[in-house]
Amino acid sequence: MKEKFYITTPIYYPSNKMTLGNAYTTIVCDALARFNRKQGKDVLYLTGTDEHGQKISQSASALGKSEKQFLDEMVEDTKDLWKLLDISYDKFIRTTDEYHEKAVQKIFAKLYEKGYIYKGSYKGWYCTPCESFWTESQLVNGKCPDCGREVKFQEEEAYFFKLSEFSDKLLKLYEQHPEFLQPKSRVNEMVNNFIKPGLNDLCVSRTSVKWGVPVDFDPKHTIYVWIDALPNYITALGWGSDDDSLFKKYWPADVHVIGKEIVRFHAIVWPAILMALGIELPHVVFGHGWLMFGGDKLSKSKKTNEHECIDPRILAPRYSADAIRYFLYREIPFGYDGNYSTEAFLTRFNADLSNNFGNLVSRTFSMVKKYFNSIIPESYDLTEDDLYLKDYALNEAKEVFKHMEKFDLTKATASVFNIFTEANTYIQKVQPWAVAKTGDEKRLKTILRLLLETIRIGSELFEPFAPVSSRKVLNALGLDNKTFTNLDNINGLENGKELGSLDILFPRLDINAELESLSKLG
Ligand code: MSP
Repeated sequence: MKEKFYITTPIYYPSNKMTLGNAYTTIVCDALARFNRKQGKDVLYLTGTDEHGQKISQSASALGKSEKQFLDEMVEDTKDLWKLLDISYDKFIRTTDEYHEKAVQKIFAKLYEKGYIYKGSYKGWYCTPCESFWTESQLVNGKCPDCGREVKFQEEEAYFFKLSEFSDKLLKLYEQHPEFLQPKSRVNEMVNNFIKPGLNDLCVSRTSVKWGVPVDFDPKHTIYVWIDALPNYITALGWGSDDDSLFKKYWPADVHVIGKEIVRFHAIVWPAILMALGIELPHVVFGHGWLMFGGDKLSKSKKTNEHECIDPRILAPRYSADAIRYFLYREIPFGYDGNYSTEAFLTRFNADLSNNFGNLVSRTFSMVKKYFNSIIPESYDLTEDDLYLKDYALNEAKEVFKHMEKFDLTKATASVFNIFTEANTYIQKVQPWAVAKTGDEKRLKTILRLLLETIRIGSELFEPFAPVSSRKVLNALGLDNKTFTNLDNINGLENGKELGSLDILFPRLDINAELESLSKLG
C-alpha cells in the first residue's frame, strides 16, 4: 500500500476576500502536497472556509445579503483564486456543510458527556452594535476595538472546555515528540507564555451569537469558534459520519500548516480536544511566519504604497502563478516573517526565473536545435568539468529532499536554483559554440546531453513549486512521468528523441515600467 500524506491549511474566514497572506499558506501547502505526490505518496490536501460567527453575519448584512448567499459568493471567489494559483487541493471543507455541523455537535456532546465541557458564565466587555464580547486587554482606550463605541461589562451563560486540566499532558507531548510543534522556537512560546502561567478553561459556546452551530442538547447556545473550526481536520475525513473510511486511511494528519498567530489553538487547544476524545494527535503542527507588507501583517487594501499591488488576482495573470509561488517560497524564510515588496518580486523574476532558469533552458534548447536538429544527443566520455556538474546536480537533488523533509521550502528552492546556476556557469566554461567550431561532435553531444539532463533534474525538482513552467520543460524533454524518476543519474532522457518546442518561459521585465504601470492599477 502507498504511504499516505495528509496535509491541511487553516480554514480561512471568508468575511473578506482572501489576501496574498491567506494565499501564502495555501501556496506553501501546495508545494508540500505536490512534492509528496511526486514521491509516490497517496496525498490528501485539505483546505476550506470557517464560516460561522458574528463577523460573517455583519459582512453579509452590510451588503444586504443573506449569510448563505454571501458565503457562497465568497467561497466561489476563494476557489477561483486557488485555481488561478494552481492550488491542487483534494478537498474543500466549509464549516456550514451539514456533515461538519453534525459531527461538531457530536464532538460537543461527547465532550460534555465525558465531563470535559461544563456550564458556567462568561464575563466580558460587550459591544451591543457589534454583538461582540471583548476582554479588557482587547479594548482600545476602553472602547470597542472594532467600532470605537462604548462597551458594557456583561455576563452570559456559556459552556467551557476544561483546558486547564491538560497542562501536564501537553508538556509531556512537547517533550516526547519534539517534532510535534515546528519550528522549535514556537515550543518555548507555548510553554512560557501559555502553559506555565496556567491554562484557563476555554469558553466554547455563546448565547449572543446566532450564526453558528447550535448545541443540540441546549439550542439557545451556539458552538463558539475553535470547537467548530479545529475539528474540520477530522470531520472532512468523515469522522462521526456513516462513512469514516477517509478518517481511517488518512488520520492522523502528517502536518497542519498554519500562521504563527493561531499556533496556540493548534498546539494547545486542538491536542487537548483530541486527547479528551481519545483520538490520535497530528504528527506535526507547523507555524509559519507572516508575510509582511511594508511592515504590516496585512493590508486589506490593494496597495500599501504607490508602487505596491499585492492582489494575487492582478499579479498572477500578469506574471504567472509560478512566479508568485516561487517568490514566496524563496524570499520568505519558511517559518519566519518576511517582507513582500513588488520591487523585490520583479527583481527576482528577472534574476532567477528569466535570466537563470529561463535562459538556461532557452539557450540549451536552441543549441540542440542548431547543432542537432533538436534531437536529444547521446553522451560519450565525461570530462572533469562534466563530472563536476553531474555530481553537483545529483548532490543538490539529494539536498532538496533533505530540506523538504524538514519543511524548509526556502532552502529547497535555493538548492534547485543552485543547479540552474551551476549549469549556466558550466556553459560559460565549456563554451559549446567554440566546441562546435572544432568539429568535435562527440564532445558537443556530451555537453548538450549533460545540460539537458541537468535541466531535467532541476525541472523535476522545481515542479512542485512552479508546476506550469516546469511541466512545460519536462514535456518538451519528452517526459510525462508523475513521480520523481532518475534523480540519482543522468540517464533520464531518451537518445534520439526530438525536443518539443518551448516558448520563452519568463520574458524579461522592464522593472521601472512595471512599477509605473502597477501603480496605476486598483
Ligand atoms: N479561521 C481561522 C483559522 C481556523 S483553523 C482551524 C483563521 N482564519 S483567517 O482567515 O484569519 O486566516 C488566518 C491564516 O491566514 C493564518 O493563520 C495564515 O495561515 C494566513 N495568513 C493571513 N495573513 C497572513 C500573512 N500576512 N502572512 C502569512 N500568513 C497569513 O484564523
